Amino acid sequence: MYRIKISLLIIALTGTQLIAYAQHKPINQRVDSVLRLMTLDEKIGQLNQIGPVSDTAGVNSIKRGYVGSMLVVHGVKDVKQMQALAMQSRLKIPLLFGYDVIHGYKTIFPVPLGESASWDTAAIRASARIAATEAAASGVNWTFAPMVDIARDPRWGRIVEGAGEDTYLGSQIAKARVLGFQGKKLGDVDAVMACAKHFAAYGAVSAGRDYNDVEMSDHQLWETYLPPFKAAVDAGVATFMSSFNTLNGVPAAASNYLQRDILKGKWNYKGFVISDCGSITQMISWGYVADEKDAALKAILSGCDVDMTSNAYVHNLKQLVAEKKVSVALIDDAVKRILYKKFELGLFDDPYRFCDEKRQADAWNDPVHKDAALQMAERSMVLLKNQNHLLPLHAHGQTIALIGPLIKSKHDLQGSWIAAGVEERVLSVYDGLTKKFGNNVHFTYAKGADIKENDTTGFATAVQAARQADMVIMALGENGDMSGESTSRADIGLPGRQVELFNAIKATGKPVVVVLMAGRPLVFNEIADNADAILYAWFPGDEGGAAIANVINGDYNPSGKLPVTFPLSVGQIPLTYNGYQTGHPYTAFGVPFQSRYTDVPNTPRYAFGYGLSYTDFKYSNLILDKTSMAKVGVINASFTLTNTGKYAGEEVVQLYINDAIASVVQPMKKLKDFKKVALQPGESKTITFTIDNEKLSFYNQQLQWVSEPGIFKLMIGSASDDIMLQSDFELK
Ligand code: NOJ
Repeated sequence: MYRIKISLLIIALTGTQLIAYAQHKPINQRVDSVLRLMTLDEKIGQLNQIGPVSDTAGVNSIKRGYVGSMLVVHGVKDVKQMQALAMQSRLKIPLLFGYDVIHGYKTIFPVPLGESASWDTAAIRASARIAATEAAASGVNWTFAPMVDIARDPRWGRIVEGAGEDTYLGSQIAKARVLGFQGKKLGDVDAVMACAKHFAAYGAVSAGRDYNDVEMSDHQLWETYLPPFKAAVDAGVATFMSSFNTLNGVPAAASNYLQRDILKGKWNYKGFVISDCGSITQMISWGYVADEKDAALKAILSGCDVDMTSNAYVHNLKQLVAEKKVSVALIDDAVKRILYKKFELGLFDDPYRFCDEKRQADAWNDPVHKDAALQMAERSMVLLKNQNHLLPLHAHGQTIALIGPLIKSKHDLQGSWIAAGVEERVLSVYDGLTKKFGNNVHFTYAKGADIKENDTTGFATAVQAARQADMVIMALGENGDMSGESTSRADIGLPGRQVELFNAIKATGKPVVVVLMAGRPLVFNEIADNADAILYAWFPGDEGGAAIANVINGDYNPSGKLPVTFPLSVGQIPLTYNGYQTGHPYTAFGVPFQSRYTDVPNTPRYAFGYGLSYTDFKYSNLILDKTSMAKVGVINASFTLTNTGKYAGEEVVQLYINDAIASVVQPMKKLKDFKKVALQPGESKTITFTIDNEKLSFYNQQLQWVSEPGIFKLMIGSASDDIMLQSDFELK
């Protein structure tokens, strides 16, 4: 009786009064108090995410409270308009606004794979922080990022969205991005909810073809693919998104194993899980369910809380409850997870708190953001080749021919997922170089060829420009939209006639610097063999042109290292640094009865962790404070790093460990730590890595995380194939 009276009282209150009524209570209680007022339709509405609406039906469903969140709607004006509709609903439950803020919102940073090449988790975190600040000032309170899928197949276009092939590096970057997006705490006006995606194993789609199936051992799943997701959970990630793929025959959106057993069970995750776009009804096409109703049933039972744009939940859950196939308790659990986040974000206290026009304008024009994008772009670039120290360029009074389809391009430099980014903000390579070198250099320009076209009529002018110049800088690669969702490629060479263009220019005998842009490792052997210098710039974002110019003229000494292996041949894929010795160990190309190819070596073109600097680093004096340790103990491995060259620079020092004999065969090397160290010319620093039991552990046959006593090899180097120091130690 008492409870009924209270409920009636609450219903009689206005929305603002309702908020005030509960404001002093802990969030759990506030969630419960709202839940008690909700009809089943309103509850199901919270599990429903829709895209932008323009029609009356869409508007009405928001007004009825049948929508919990929207995607793509962003910018203060549009968000306010939609939120105002939700405020006309019976219970005035605010909407969430989710958007793909992947590498910047207004200010576009390098694509995530490029940022990962910096191996600079502080800079990556700062980049996510800025993206969140701009997005949160523009009405967005939820980003569908970070993508933490380990990706070992560069044919898969979405490799661009992640941190590359390595589990350890990927986990560190996952953590940095979550902390960056979510800021000090959810509820601050500059914090957005992050979303760890795509759960799980999406990076391992068969044949590198997007949306495909994944067949994977549990061991591989736990050892390689799940840890970055766990790192995101540990960093407090607010939400999860499931993936488009099947995992061993079960679509991820309906995977009880992933969503209930692992995520909400073993990891005790309290946030909520959203499907990917339409992936609930896509289960019909997979042949996993008969119809939309069956799809909704399987998804909700297996722990998928929010339906992204399938409409399967709004259409079917009520009926499924009536048929007693789905319990209200199960729906309540999902609703509570969502309401909790809405309270945490402060949306119940002020549904318009992310809608301040002045804050939006300030965030979009903050010069600090532009500067950070420049620094991130500089740090992301990897110098792959620098014959005869051609770079940095000391070019006074010279003529330099700028050639290639990406020299004047702007849009391409932003890569895929550009949120609210605009082309006008991008500095092209041409603009960056001409600005940097000013009147010291005479630049000429010829496009030469288009990226995807077969037309070679531009070659002659380009060759002529090269002949008349002292040297050439070429910008070649993919279009910005050639990597990303649904952009798998079977041939990852340079598209169109770009290699021929390069060969024609090279034939002039002039020194050629090639700047390559792409969202994935490309195969470019002729260029790798014959260019004088190669800078891999990924898609470097708005400040790409300035960053490239700074690297070329030496204002910035490149420090990026590859976060993913670059194969020699597409046939080697998947090729990673941490493969196995096998029972037929490979020693050299051409030796029979070894685990090998008869037509190409096993080695990559460029190994994981590789990247040059303008200076040289010497590794010396490795000292282990002990040669054996107990499981509760640690070993400190120290060494001296010296800058023996002429330029100040940064080196990413990498620690790899090999477990010599184990009950599950171990890779020859696993990255277990790294540091980015800045040194002046002639300067030395002592670097220490601490090895603990965690770094020696792996998933055993029972999928327990264990270490096993025995001999381990510790390797320290500047790349996975360039080990400078090594020593054995024992785990007792
Ligand atoms: C589909 C993509 O797979 C996912 O990553 C993205 O967040 C959603 N679409 C929403 O745009």
